[in-house]
Amino acid sequence: MDNRAIGIFDSGLGGLTAAAALRELMPREKIIYFADSARVPYGAMSREQLLIMARQDLELLASFSVKFIIAACGTVSSNAAQIIESFPIPSLGVLKPGIQAMSRIPGHAPLGIIATAASIKAGAFRRELELLCPGREIVDLPCPDFVPLIESGHTQPHDPLLIEAVERSLRPAKGLGMAALLLGCTHYGIIAPAIRDFLGGGVELVSASESAAQAACACLERLGLQGDGCGETLYYTSGDAEEFSAAASRLLGREIRAGQLPAMDIK
Ligand code: DGL
Repeated sequence: MDNRAIGIFDSGLGGLTAAAALRELMPREKIIYFADSARVPYGAMSREQLLIMARQDLELLASFSVKFIIAACGTVSSNAAQIIESFPIPSLGVLKPGIQAMSRIPGHAPLGIIATAASIKAGAFRRELELLCPGREIVDLPCPDFVPLIESGHTQPHDPLLIEAVERSLRPAKGLGMAALLLGCTHYGIIAPAIRDFLGGGVELVSASESAAQAACACLERLGLQGDGCGETLYYTSGDAEEFSAAASRLLGREIRAGQLPAMDIK
């Protein structure tokens, strides 16, 4: 048994979808969640910036003596896979688990991927899926408007701004007969109902966050790192702690209080 915490990080609220999925699978683990809200959205950053930020986020969680880290951010996972994989603490991102889940979708209908602009530009989601599903049509779309809307509280499926953004962003993918759509940004799970309303029930939505939580669970078991603690979660943010606590409490449906950490410079 290993009762050190599991660290999870994202640019903001998105990684809460991975933390919630992991909590379901591993109720006795201690989780430390870090939201780098001072620097959200990561999807607007350059690859060079993301490489630095990935290392800073991993090192920040390492300073809490965590036993395992989930980079619950598609943008970091697709731009900095090597940094995550070679980090001295066992770590995984959401890219490979999400792609593996997509590769199990049966049939020949096209497969879709939505993610941030920086993720789509990196091309890693498409490349990894092409490797596992050679010859299958793949549609990938950046949705740069989603994260700012989610971070500012526009998450309800009847929210007019959200409906408009979902229609505008996903129109090119509608009517293509996709079998499934990968939510390659962890924020997107929060607005899955609005995405489902627009695309209809025929397109299976695959959550990169849930896939990563399942992969993390399997990895912890394989490494013999499971804990048997009381399952607490501690939240930290580099942004405004009051704001993050209010937004996270709304999303999780229970009161949370996040601790304040200093914002990090890219240097
Ligand atoms: N939730 C992150 C992702 O999965 C980052 C989104 C952003 O900050 O742009 O890509």
